[in-house]
Amino acid sequence: MASRAHDIGAAADFAPGLLRRVDVEGRALVVLCRGEEFVALRDLCPHQGAPLSAGELGGTPLPCQPGEPIQYGRIGEVLTCPWHGWEFDVGTGRALAHPQARVRVYPVRREDGRLWVELS
Ligand code: FES
Repeated sequence: MASRAHDIGAAADFAPGLLRRVDVEGRALVVLCRGEEFVALRDLCPHQGAPLSAGELGGTPLPCQPGEPIQYGRIGEVLTCPWHGWEFDVGTGRALAHPQARVRVYPVRREDGRLWVELS
């Protein structure tokens, strides 16, 4: 199937760390900025259908011993679902604790200050 590129807005409107929902051809996507890179994922959690755009972009707790302070790793790489806390790798869309569950990831490119998402 051929892919189709869609202009989803000015890159400057996608601030680093923020989650922004856009609708493209009837598909809800959540778009986020990670430094110079932009990522789009389906805005639908595979667990029970929460909008991931209402979640949080951050990290994941690292292993620790009882009594130790919780520390986080992979900062900016993990999108946490707002309903039950499933965590998704924003690069692959895979759920960290449920690798069989996955959110579709769409390529985003920046061109002349605009963002284009590729749907296939
Ligand atoms: S709906 Fe996302 S973790 Fe339950």
